[in-house]
Amino acid sequence: MRNAFPLFQSHLDLAQDYWSQLVQIGDTVIDATCGNGFDTFKLCQLALSNDKGKVIAIDRQSQAIASTRHYLDAHLPIELMERVGFYHQCHSTFPHYLQQAEVKLIVYNLGYLPGGDKSETTETLTTLLSLTEGQKLVKPGGAICITCYPGHPEGANEQEALLAYAAQLPPKEWSCCRHSWLNRHLAPTLLLIQKSLQQPDSKEEDGPPH
Ligand SMILES: C[S@@+](CC[C@H](N)C(=O)[O-])C[C@H]1O[C@@H](n2cnc3c(N)ncnc32)[C@H](O)[C@@H]1O
Repeated sequence: MRNAFPLFQSHLDLAQDYWSQLVQIGDTVIDATCGNGFDTFKLCQLALSNDKGKVIAIDRQSQAIASTRHYLDAHLPIELMERVGFYHQCHSTFPHYLQQAEVKLIVYNLGYLPGGDKSETTETLTTLLSLTEGQKLVKPGGAICITCYPGHPEGANEQEALLAYAAQLPPKEWSCCRHSWLNRHLAPTLLLIQKSLQQPDSKEEDGPPH
């Protein structure tokens, strides 16, 4: 049954709630696994106006880039479309022109393209590389939001590695938490990594510990 529960139905509802709270018109955001473009479209709605904002859509498969472009073409006005950059590449690197601390949000929806080649799935090593590069691009007060799919073997390894990585990030600089279902076996999980507004070189005084 659709919309059976009062607050949210899926990890995606929860993820989109976070994105909506965080992203404002004029922000730069990245969809690091654009797939069919559904997440990219949501990010465009949040970040873009006719003269402000930037959305970067990345995918390793040309089929995914074509699909995202097609979906956005059909749903976005041309002025917003011009503010979207498409990158057919692995997300272990990001477009060179992006400045450090410029990006408000990076979104990963891991796994493989629904209805596509299941062997073209995200992999632990490149996802971790991407995450470490992405951390440099995210501005203080920005975030990285990752949907993991533990229901297939590579996805389970990937999730484990990401959780271990996130668990050792310094808590004054990064807030890392995850959402997982207790009664939905092997359902997708959500990892949210927020970058503190107060970074080590920031001049502001530390507040009291919470
Ligand atoms: C679950 S799908 C993404 C769904 C998408 N966000 C949407 O809204 O339709 C995962 C995508 O990750 C892409 N992918 C896998 N490995 C990648 C990599 N190393 N770099 C960039 N994209 C990758 C796949 O090609 C696939 O399109």
